[in-house]
Amino acid sequence: MKLLEKHAIFEKNSIILVVGILLMVAIGGLVEIVPLFYLENTIEKTEGMRPYTPLELAGRNIYIREGCYTCHSQMIRSTRDEVERYGHYSLAAESMYDHPQLWGSKRNGPDLARVGNKYSDEWHREHLMEPSSVVPETIMPGYPFLAETKLKYQLIDHDIKVNQMIGVPYTDEMVLNAVADLKAQLDEDSDDYDAFMERYPNAQVRDFDGDTTQITEMDALIAYLQMLGTLVDFSIYNDNENNR
Ligand code: HEC
Repeated sequence: MKLLEKHAIFEKNSIILVVGILLMVAIGGLVEIVPLFYLENTIEKTEGMRPYTPLELAGRNIYIREGCYTCHSQMIRSTRDEVERYGHYSLAAESMYDHPQLWGSKRNGPDLARVGNKYSDEWHREHLMEPSSVVPETIMPGYPFLAETKLKYQLIDHDIKVNQMIGVPYTDEMVLNAVADLKAQLDEDSDDYDAFMERYPNAQVRDFDGDTTQITEMDALIAYLQMLGTLVDFSIYNDNENNR
């Protein structure tokens, strides 16, 4: 009863009530925010994550330009239905080099966080040219112009440099060799192959659009899609889950 009577002070005076609310919210906020200043890193380090190759980065730029993220998410939630359909739920580390992140907020199409290596390059090409040719009931629009549009990669080193400035661990060597690395990823026989693979472990190297005569936006976009979700080796994580 006593406590209730004391509480009447708040209920009868709106100013005191507002001050009281602000105080409570501030305590709640501090409890959540202050620990973040003492943690060195809120993202758990995960083996396998590396910065995107110049070609993948160029593909990512096209993914953003074409608004693929308006229909596709790149964020697998930890609920059972999602994990059974798409694979291991997304880790924070998997988007730590994304500026901006492409988690998306809408799924007109499926999540793409682990679409890499799910289909062949040919499938992706057909699908991007004319989606209904491989999935008749689809509502995804076609992007046939990507196959004819030459990729503008001449300034990709600037892109990498900016990413370096905002904390992506690109080395100066990666910036310097950006254009050469972009070309090297499209040709297994190039002289730069070994140096490229050393800089970007586990990168997939081949001509992605099936047209070796020119470097197209299709090359870059497919290289990006085929990489998604393939950098971290999840067999280790899945084993742990089975052993539980
Ligand atoms: C209007 C919405 C829409 C847009 C925009 C869109 N998609 Fe899709 N996408 C879909 C739908 C719906 C599906 C499922 C049917 C299908 O496979 O076509 C799909 C399927 C896919 C798949 C196959 C996924 C899987 O696991 O089967 C890929 C890859 C894909 N889209 C890539 C892209 C890319 C890259 C872009 C941008 C260039 C894009 N989409 C733009 C709606 C969209």
